[in-house]
This record gives sequence, C-alpha cells and structure tokens, in this order.
Amino acid sequence: MPSLRSLAILAAALSAARAQTYTLSQDLSGANFFSAFKYNESAVDFNNFGNVHFLGEDDANNAKLTFVDSNNRAIIKVDNTTNGAGDPTFGRNTVYLMSNKLMTIGSLLIFDANHMPFGCSVWPSLFTQGQVWPAQGEIDIIENVNLATNNRFSLHVGDDNCVQPTSVSGNQTGQISTANGDISNCTVTPATGQNTIGCVTSETKDNSFGQGFSSAGGGVFAALWDESGIAMWFFSRPDVPSNIGGTAAPDPTTWGKASAWYPASGCNPSTAFGPQIITLYIDICGAFAGQQSVFEQSCASAAPNCSALVGDPANYNDAYWEINYLRVFTNSANVADTSSASSGPTSGGSAGTGSQSGSSPSASQTGSSGALPSLPLSASLLTAALVLVGMLSL
Ligand SMILES: *[C@@H]1O[C@H](CO)[C@@H](O)[C@H](O)[C@H]1NC(C)=O
Ligand SMILES: *[C@@H]1O[C@H](CO)[C@@H](O)[C@H](O)[C@H]1NC(C)=O
Ligand SMILES: *[C@@H]1O[C@H](CO)[C@@H](O)[C@H](O)[C@H]1NC(C)=O
Ligand SMILES: *[C@@H]1O[C@H](CO)[C@@H](O)[C@H](O)[C@H]1NC(C)=O
Ligand SMILES: *[C@@H]1O[C@H](CO)[C@@H](O)[C@H](O)[C@H]1NC(C)=O
Repeated sequence: MPSLRSLAILAAALSAARAQTYTLSQDLSGANFFSAFKYNESAVDFNNFGNVHFLGEDDANNAKLTFVDSNNRAIIKVDNTTNGAGDPTFGRNTVYLMSNKLMTIGSLLIFDANHMPFGCSVWPSLFTQGQVWPAQGEIDIIENVNLATNNRFSLHVGDDNCVQPTSVSGNQTGQISTANGDISNCTVTPATGQNTIGCVTSETKDNSFGQGFSSAGGGVFAALWDESGIAMWFFSRPDVPSNIGGTAAPDPTTWGKASAWYPASGCNPSTAFGPQIITLYIDICGAFAGQQSVFEQSCASAAPNCSALVGDPANYNDAYWEINYLRVFTNSANVADTSSASSGPTSGGSAGTGSQSGSSPSASQTGSSGALPSLPLSASLLTAALVLVGMLSL
C-alpha cells in the first residue's frame, strides 16, 4: 500500500502537471506597441467593403491616427477631422494592423484597454487569423458594431468540420447565438459565402462592448488556445483577476467559467488553426455595420442608412482604441510564438460576419494601395452579394 506521504507527493505532482505555467513571450505597450505590427495599407477595404482607407504607417502617424499618448497608452483612431460631405466615394482614414509575429497553439493572449471604438457606423475588432484564410482559421476576440452593448466571440475555419456543441452552454457564461440544432457551425465556405458569420457566442456581461465598456474604464479580454480547445474571457475593469496585469503569471484556472468555450471535441484546435496573426482595426459601415437591418437595430434614429454618416467627422469622436497592453504568454518554451510572418499573409481574414472574399492579394501587404485581390473584382463583388443575401436571412 502506498504511504500517505507518497500519495500526497503524487497528488502534488499531478496538480502541478495539470496547472500550466505561462511565460510572457510578447509584451506590447507604449513605445513598443506599434513596432510589433504591419500596417495593411489599402485604399479599398476588399474584405469587408467598408467606407474606409487603411493608411500606411507613416501616413497614419502623421495624421495622428496611431500614437502613444502621454500616459503611455497606444491610441488607434479613425480620422475625426476630415469633412467628406458631398463626396459619394468618400472613405474615412483609419488603419488595419497585423502582428509581425505569429501566435502558436499553446498561447494565452491578454488585451487590456480603457476605451474601444464605438458609434453609429463604427465596427472595431480584435481577432487573430491564419496566413491562409479560412484554411488556417480565425479567432474573433472582440467584435460588434454601431451602438451594440455586448461583445461577440466567434471562430471561422476552412475545411475542418468545426462546430461549437450547444452542450457547452453549462461550461460557458456567454450565449450561443448561431445555434442550428445541437451545434453552432464554425466552418465557412467563402466561395459561396456560406456561414461567414461563424459560430458566435454573445457575451452576457454588461460593459463588454462600446460605450458601456469605455464608461466603465474598459477591461480585459483573454483568449486561451491550446490542445483542449479555445476559451475566451471578458472582465470589466472592477472584475479583472489579480493574476492579470501584475507581476504574477496569469492563471486561467482561477478565472471561473469562460465567456465562450470551443472544446476540442467539436473543433480540432491544432488542425483547424494555423499560426495566427494578431489583427486589430476599425472599419466603418461595410458588410456588418452597414447592413441595413443590423444598422437599424441600434442606429435607426441616427440616419436612414450607415453610409449617410461617414462624411461627418463629428460622428467619429468616440471611434478610438486606448490600449494599456497586449500580451501573449505561452505554456511551453517549445511553442513560443517567435516564428515571424516573413512573407506576410497570403489571404485576408474577415473580422467576423464580413463578406470575406477569400481572395489573396499577391502584392506586399504593406505596399502601396495597389494591392489587388487575385480574384477578379467581379468575383469578390459576387461573393459580397451572396453574403449579403445570406445575411438577410439571419
Ligand atoms: C463541461 O463541464 C463539466 C463539469 O466540469 C465537465 O465534466 C465536461 O467535460 C465539460 N464539457 C466540456 C465540453 O468542456
Ligand atoms: C457547416 O457549414 C458548412 C458550410 O459552410 C457545411 O459544409 C457543413 O456541412 C456544416 N457542418 C455541419 C455539421 O452542419
Ligand atoms: C442613404 O441615405 C442618404 C440620406 O438620406 C441618401 O442620400 C442615400 O441615397 C442613402 N444611401 C443608400 C445606399 O441608400
Ligand atoms: C477627435 O476625437 C478625439 C478623441 O479621440 C477628441 O479628443 C478630439 O477633440 C476630436 N476632434 C474634434 C475635431 O472634435
Ligand atoms: C490587407 O488589405 C487588403 C485590402 O483590403 C485585403 O485584400 C487583404 O486581405 C488584407 N490582408 C489581410 C491579411 O487581411
């Protein structure tokens, strides 16, 4: 019979094996925040058809759309000074940032912000995407539009049969909003525009998006991607766990149920997702915020339609991120996210419900605005049309 002492040692060893230790591998804040990202310059938003121009790094810095403020916070904003009234082709300046380093399986991403962009026509998102979309997957951590009050988490994957079983409802605090029978389908078929919305779980906690988030002093979003699945949490400022943000290593086992939980039993986290590019941007109107029925849900009294708002700079005074830090931890030295996206992504990701065309720009991502999708534009527009038709039935 084993002694009590050896049992105790065994139990300690087992719990040590179960508890992961997270090592900081990327710590982005203040002066080193923006150098971790490429600016995907583009005069046209081919992915989501927003009324925007994504500026390159120099132009964005000169226009003060990206800067570090006197409190050492990273600010990312939409232009709120240019008057575009009367110009039907007007696109408002903003940026589309993609991380230089790739995040691998075994990573824990923690994002702390005081303010997120909001307002009628505004569509912010923080997500990660593989270098080939959708084959290498997409994880949406923060996304919603207009004056929505609750964040939406989602996944998008390519060929893998990837679902969120509705049976997870007891294992997450959020609510599945795309259930079909006993599953919520994460697999998209970009060629037909099928299911571009992904498998959405809506945050139920107040202050998880937009004005509510910002007035409460912001908070923290976390995403843990490992062999067991993908879990995402939201904490409003007063509820941020003590092992987040300080010197102690974060310990997700102490955080309580995740807001969204996508277990490996429904979606294989190693085959459905490749190394991920962390992506942060702000869109205006386009396939989600600009879709008439979505727009009317929270902004019917602001304008007859989304694009009517774009010309007036005063609509964008709240359209900015104020970021304390973005950190990536890894749970093993072997899977540190040190690989770099040398050649840049080969395909663009939508931020969620977007009308992702699946097209691949062959030109450099950070090059001139001449980057064109490899599909003819007509094919992209056809996809967009199909997507919009699909969305009408939501
Ligand atoms: C949900 O939680 C229960 C209780 O902790 C656990 O037994 C079960 O394996 C979990 N299911 C999933 C899909 O995570
Ligand atoms: C999920 O949707 C895709 C189309 O995007 C479809 O091919 C697949 O069969 C669906 N999976 C399930 C389990 O319904
Ligand atoms: C949006 O509303 C404006 C103002 O009423 C109108 O001029 C414009 O034609 C509308 N655009 C669309 C696409 O319906
Ligand atoms: C633009 O928005 C910022 C907040 O990001 C605000 O401080 C500034 O006053 C606004 N500019 C104008 C011209 O209203
Ligand atoms: C960069 O922007 C272009 C133009 O909008 C788009 O086609 C491409 O997919 C984007 N890249 C990524 C990785 O999203």
